[in-house]
Amino acid sequence: TNSVVTIDGPSGVGKGTLAQFLCCKTGFHLLDSGAIYRSLAYGALEEGIAFDNLPGLVDLAENLPVKFIENSILYREKDITSKVRTEEVAAVASKVAAIPEVRAALLKRQKDFAQPPGLIADGRDMGTVVFPHAPVKLFLTASAEERAKRRVKQLKNQGVDVNIRQITQDIMERDERDRTRKSSPLVPAEDALEIDTTDLSIEDVCQMALNKLYD
Ligand code: CDP
Repeated sequence: TNSVVTIDGPSGVGKGTLAQFLCCKTGFHLLDSGAIYRSLAYGALEEGIAFDNLPGLVDLAENLPVKFIENSILYREKDITSKVRTEEVAAVASKVAAIPEVRAALLKRQKDFAQPPGLIADGRDMGTVVFPHAPVKLFLTASAEERAKRRVKQLKNQGVDVNIRQITQDIMERDERDRTRKSSPLVPAEDALEIDTTDLSIEDVCQMALNKLYD
């Protein structure tokens, strides 16, 4: 897996912003793996597939009718870009993402994003499971309070009315589920550079990542 940069870490840590920045700098493709899990969650809700219907979920994951076109997400030709950004969809995504068979069903689709000239892969298990041989691996962290603050700011910018206590609670619940699940739990790869971003600006984090990329 040449020229793959993995960026893993919990919710609201700034992976998406860093991934966009690195894509601009390098001209590499982007894999927003969270958007795949969110699209799957959206599809399960839309098609009425219950969360305990394992064959139904795996079938949907294997044949997920989703296309990523520029910055838009299309589900059966319908634009769901803003629909998948809600905390409701995120909560369902984190539940279906805990199912090993579902993760396995999405593996090939994610690997297929690795095309020349290279890939910036944003997620939870990019460096550990999907691209274990990636030459550059980053793992971002930040305190739960800081991550909730960033998420609130992001949602406000999208025009969503938010309650900071609720967001903090949602983020902590999802983190706990991501960290403690049996299949691909959220842990840094052994060879990942860990960056605690709590007291860093976006510019600082981007610069640190660039240094690592070109060192
Ligand atoms: O935007 P945020 O970081 O909160 O979430 P996301 O990256 O869009 O991912 C939504 C959910 O999908 C996460 O809470 C994870 O449970 C799950 N996910 C995962 O299990 N593995 C990935 N590679 C990416 C996301």
